[in-house]
Amino acid sequence: MNTLYLDALGTDSGSNIRTAASILRSGGIVAFPTETVYGLGADTFNESAVAKIFAAKGRPQDNPLISHITDIADIHRLARDIPPSAFLLAESFWPGPLTLVLKRNPDVPPIISAGLDTVSVRIPSHHVARRLIELSGTAVAAPSANISGRPSATTALHVQEDFNGKIDAIVSGGDCEVGVESTVLSLCGDIPRLLRPGGVPLESLRAVLGEVAVDRAVYEIIGEGERVSSPGMKYRHYAPRADVTVVCGAPRQTAEYIKSEANETTGIICFDEFEKMFYNREVYTIGPAEDSAANARALFGALRSFDRSSVEKILAQCPDDRGVGLAVANRLKKAAGFKIVVV
Ligand code: TXA
Ligand code: MG
Repeated sequence: MNTLYLDALGTDSGSNIRTAASILRSGGIVAFPTETVYGLGADTFNESAVAKIFAAKGRPQDNPLISHITDIADIHRLARDIPPSAFLLAESFWPGPLTLVLKRNPDVPPIISAGLDTVSVRIPSHHVARRLIELSGTAVAAPSANISGRPSATTALHVQEDFNGKIDAIVSGGDCEVGVESTVLSLCGDIPRLLRPGGVPLESLRAVLGEVAVDRAVYEIIGEGERVSSPGMKYRHYAPRADVTVVCGAPRQTAEYIKSEANETTGIICFDEFEKMFYNREVYTIGPAEDSAANARALFGALRSFDRSSVEKILAQCPDDRGVGLAVANRLKKAAGFKIVVV
């Protein structure tokens, strides 16, 4: 298959986004930028188009997809019995990096929800994503645009690495400004439950909702065959080819630990302040220790960078759980299969 490359930033951006939208309308699959990560989109209401996403990604059939809309009125096409808290959250965080899990409207094809009776919905803020969704005239189902198990894509080049020749088109729109995926929050139980930390911090959700429970899959590995609230959380994810170990603790101490453990075959992911300690090693910096937003933007590029080198293992400094740091730490730990050293 020839993958069309559509630039959404240059002079042809208008007609390029129209081309992408017409591909979506006619049942094709298109990668596009959002503020979190690139998504791989299809028309939510076209089952055979959605099936192409699962095939292209190699995605397990039991892992449901997020549907993206631009107008809150369209939420009723996707969900039913929507609680007032959904609209409260929408006022605070939409458009933006929050996904709500709600009861599924029976009109939504079961393949979207992987057979669950719930559906997940997000209104993204990225102007290219929004224009594309508007012009497609439908809800756009989109998982992250990476081969299943690989780090998510935060640049059009990352998407190309994974999907050149495998999907109809790639809309390029620069680097993603958040860098980790959306926060996934279930509103289907008595208490709102965080299923995946992401671009909207847990603290911000609690400021609006009061109590928010945190699913244990956020912190722990979930065993084969165990029941999980968010099917995506049980898979090894975000993993580069080399083995990752996450080092948690105060930044100075974790840097010292990594220095003592690293050799010529070690790749290092560290905060900017400590780069000089590793001058003779392969290093990727992810911003200052106190800037988890910068860490988030750099994370997936860091994990992907080592696939182009010959390092055999990766040691990574881990941000603490404050703010978007919780999402960065979660992605790192998942990339490591929860191989964690605490110093
Ligand atoms: O930022 C994002 O959310 C990006 C962009 C493209 O919007 N999308 C994304 O999709 O990260 P994906 O498929 O890579 O991750 C969606 C996560 C998975 O862990 C999935 O299991 C969970 O959300 N999820 C989706 N629908 C669900 C549902 N009905 N119930 C529980 N979890 C759900
Ligand atoms: Mg994903």
